Amino acid sequence: RNAAQLIRPQLPAELIEKRAGCPFDPAAGLTELSGQGRIHRIEHKGETVWLVTGHDEARAVLAAPEMSSDRINSPRARALISPELHAEMFPPERQAGSFIFMDAPRHTRFRRLLTGQFTVRRMRDLTPRVHEIVTSALDAMIEKGPPADLVHDFALPVPSLVICELLGVDYGDRDEFQQRTAKLLSLNTTVDEQIKNGTDLRRFMHKLVVDKQKAPGDDLLSGLVRDTDLTVDELVGIANLLLIAGHETTANMLALGTFALLEHPDQFAKLRDDPALVDNAVEELLRYLSIISSGVSRHAKEDVVIGDATIRAGETVVVSVPAVNRDDSQYDDPHELRVDRPRGHHVAFGHGIHQCLGQQLARVEMAVGFTELLRRLPELKLAVPADEVPLRTDMSIYGVHSLPVTW
Ligand code: HEM
Repeated sequence: RNAAQLIRPQLPAELIEKRAGCPFDPAAGLTELSGQGRIHRIEHKGETVWLVTGHDEARAVLAAPEMSSDRINSPRARALISPELHAEMFPPERQAGSFIFMDAPRHTRFRRLLTGQFTVRRMRDLTPRVHEIVTSALDAMIEKGPPADLVHDFALPVPSLVICELLGVDYGDRDEFQQRTAKLLSLNTTVDEQIKNGTDLRRFMHKLVVDKQKAPGDDLLSGLVRDTDLTVDELVGIANLLLIAGHETTANMLALGTFALLEHPDQFAKLRDDPALVDNAVEELLRYLSIISSGVSRHAKEDVVIGDATIRAGETVVVSVPAVNRDDSQYDDPHELRVDRPRGHHVAFGHGIHQCLGQQLARVEMAVGFTELLRRLPELKLAVPADEVPLRTDMSIYGVHSLPVTW
């Protein structure tokens, strides 16, 4: 088993694999399950997992204080491997600062230190710089001429450069951290590779934190080094989390979002011809694509009633983001992509105390990214047949590995 599997319960293939012929729809088995109820007890490979497909139930799970996010130390993770291997994979210094895995009140301390850095206002102030970054990526891609790989030339560099500037990471090091992040998010790496990758990424960040201590700049990480009593391990953990969460997610939304628009030419044309729709389009793409395709998991610290189910202490719950975002009690024709759909309460960014810290930044990047892409390349097309686009079914964040386009 690899670390990703340890912290993420496995589900049967029919609930995971994309529907043949449609890279955007949830697995056929998942859609069928949603039709049968809103919370389901699944037995698979000797494990029992509760799978939530209903919208209200998902929000109830994610808001419940009895539900823990400490996937690393969950009864499930502890039962799967020996204490020695657990200690080797997740030593205390590796857990420090990774507040996505913490419960209140430990989580609260980190979240308070960071919330002010990611407010709607702060992110709006960043818009002109995001605009410059988007424009120069598009300038370079257009100058090189078609065909292009939209992932390599646009979707990955834009959020990578934005998060590097925000954190104060040298963009010249991007190959190093992009490769390590990709390996960390891969479902096909071994435990040994995971341990090595985790250690290498921490070493990279450790050096950065120590450099900031010596010579702080005006970036977020320098601010944390200067103004807080966080330990070096905590700073490394925070920086790692922000760097990983901050570029792969948005990159996949930009690339898969473009693919979805190209496969729905009426929606592409609607957004291109009325850029004022972009904020709606971004929310709709987040809902429709639900790139956190394996869901968000928790375990119960105490017995808790969710909908018509009683989750017992120690049991694992997975909120299926793709199923919940297509709950037909929330959305008319949930399986249709409509860029002018009124904004609803999707769970693409989660819900409750762990709701995505970077969501406003992601929204700015996507709004500027899609607007400029469609304005500059109004005749954008796929350069290969749609079924040849390589899908990220082997990664914990869904999307495309590359997107060959022409214009
Ligand atoms: C948490 C999705 C972009 C940083 C989350 C969660 C989701 C999510 C579903 C909740 C996880 C849970 O409840 O266990 C996304 C998507 C993105 C995106 C779909 C892009 C479209 C970003 C960006 C950043 C970021 C750009 C950083 C700048 C974080 C952090 C957390 C988080 C730090 C943990 C928050 C906490 O535990 O309090 N994200 N995210 N994300 N995200 Fe994002």
